[in-house]
Amino acid sequence: MYINPSQPIYSFRNAKFGDKKLLLIAGSDHKTGFAPTAQDTYGSLENVAKKYYPKSEILYKWNTRDCISLDKIPYIGLLSSTTPNVYVATGFNKWGITSSNVAANIITDKILSKENKYSFVFDSLRLKPIKNRIELKNMGSQVFKSFVTNRIKIPEEEISKIKNDNGAIVKVNGTNIGIYKDSSGNVFAVKPTCTHLGCLLTWNNLEKTWDCPCHGSRFDFKGHNIYDPAFKDLEKFEIL
Ligand code: FES
Repeated sequence: MYINPSQPIYSFRNAKFGDKKLLLIAGSDHKTGFAPTAQDTYGSLENVAKKYYPKSEILYKWNTRDCISLDKIPYIGLLSSTTPNVYVATGFNKWGITSSNVAANIITDKILSKENKYSFVFDSLRLKPIKNRIELKNMGSQVFKSFVTNRIKIPEEEISKIKNDNGAIVKVNGTNIGIYKDSSGNVFAVKPTCTHLGCLLTWNNLEKTWDCPCHGSRFDFKGHNIYDPAFKDLEKFEIL
């Protein structure tokens, strides 16, 4: 695997696919809920592919999500001080292959009541994880933006102004309604309020999902929850 240390970061690796070997190019990361454009995401990856592998052909594209803790260090250990037999390993910061092995070692040692000299680094019960003040500030401003600014900036549009195969939030009698129109013009309407802590969702037209900028929950266009920390579906509206 190859990865560059400078920005923007791209990584290259290969994967078996039947009897073939495919090249995987990853990058163009962005925060969940920030309505990226195809040009900024897939487009920039395609440019990299064309630059380094001019004869390559793009077979698949996909977009996934990763969970990153505030101090960028995974949480590995007890889920809480009141659940002595329940362990957690999360927040791998895009280094899941490595961190899951670290987690396996630490949690195995915990189950066997053995010392592990690295476990303190990943302490899942740490009370002050926020060493990264810049990220904390960003998070605070994004929550604020999501609760207030996004709402103010949303233009009041009629449902009919939304193009097919696109989505948007419209105001109907003062209420935000999240609308998606499929390629045949069928309309799917949801309440675009995250069922985790109530942030306003953003339409992601690359994946046809409603994404939450606060803590990364995602919902499909019918409102079904597909990523935690929210676990309830969105409220749906019926169009009369
Ligand atoms: Fe949406 Fe927390 S409010 S994920």
